[in-house]
Amino acid sequence: MQFGLGTMNALCSGHPLAHEVAFVHPAEAESNGKKRRPTCRRQRWDQPAHLLGGDELKGYPCKANIRSHSSGSRRLRDYTERVRLDGKVALITGAASGIGRAVTHLFRQEGASVIAADLDQAGAAAALGNGPGRAVRLDVAAEADWDSLAQTIDQLDILVASAGISAAQPIVETSLADWRRILSVNLDGVFLGLRYAIPAMRKNSKGSIVLVASASGIRAAPGAGAYSASKAAVRMLVRTAALECRPHGIRVNSVSPAGVVTPIWKTMPFWQELVQQKGSEAAAWDALGGADPALPSIQRMAFPEEIANAILFLASEESAHMTGADLVIDGGYTA
Ligand SMILES: NC(=O)c1ccc[n+]([C@@H]2O[C@H](COP(=O)([O-])OP(=O)(O)OC[C@H]3O[C@@H](n4cnc5c(N)ncnc54)[C@H](O)[C@@H]3O)[C@@H](O)[C@H]2O)c1
Repeated sequence: MQFGLGTMNALCSGHPLAHEVAFVHPAEAESNGKKRRPTCRRQRWDQPAHLLGGDELKGYPCKANIRSHSSGSRRLRDYTERVRLDGKVALITGAASGIGRAVTHLFRQEGASVIAADLDQAGAAAALGNGPGRAVRLDVAAEADWDSLAQTIDQLDILVASAGISAAQPIVETSLADWRRILSVNLDGVFLGLRYAIPAMRKNSKGSIVLVASASGIRAAPGAGAYSASKAAVRMLVRTAALECRPHGIRVNSVSPAGVVTPIWKTMPFWQELVQQKGSEAAAWDALGGADPALPSIQRMAFPEEIANAILFLASEESAHMTGADLVIDGGYTA
């Protein structure tokens, strides 16, 4: 049986999806007697990640409030003098797409040298662009890959484990192989990340690890058995890892987003059916919770950049006293 729209609706029902789009920075304030042009954090990129080569919003009448007034190097440090990850080396898994790609862009902007890792090495390289660091092919579920990568890393300050896959199948329709496939990427992949990143960070007695869990690890939905189980396990693993890493000065936290506008949705069996039924991809996104940037933030799905902002906070010294925590970023879905 294919995963149907009814089940998909159950997955999304009651989801008050939404997030702030504009991110208007308070530095609209006067500067040197001249009023600065209104701007937003995203402006510091040429375009937000979800519009950079991604087709998440394809067909959507995107009025993106993406205003790129500033140019050149000034764009990078227009009014944020702090570069929060200067001198840090960050390993990001799942860097080629969605949340991982947005994190890669944001970390580059914040001064980090990024090891952009993904099964899709070319995609990771594209996300990294000309930034400092390198793109590597990594299957997070393969210990041999982690082993080889670890041998090439001298310094590691941050791990963001974003690589993941989703599924939508009732339990009785889930083969053991399907179950293991989800768990191997979403849970084994995170376990291996911890297993290899922690020793690298212990060398410097500091580090910050951010795992990408999910609101599906908190709130159940039909068809999300394997996925929810994997994410609930990650939320618990974070806490154990935090306690084990505490004596070594390494913090471990997670984020739990609900619906985020990324290509992961298009891997779901119901996506094509939904597009066909609704008539367009834009309408399909609407049915999932909305992807119109003009909507108030908590009345639509999140954009990857909105999750990346929370990950940056957890990765940086701004959250220095936080460990073992899960930041729920879900527009109220689990409230
Ligand atoms: N998009 C959402 O609605 C949503 C909500 C909550 C949590 N999440 C979680 O966020 C994380 C990122 O998802 P996304 O939405 O950005 O999806 P995405 O599909 O856009 O990106 C996932 C990336 O992971 C990579 N990947 C998959 N398997 C891999 C493997 N074995 N080894 C290395 N890389 C692999 C893919 O190539 C891809 O680049 C996932 O862990 C996902 O479960 C997503």
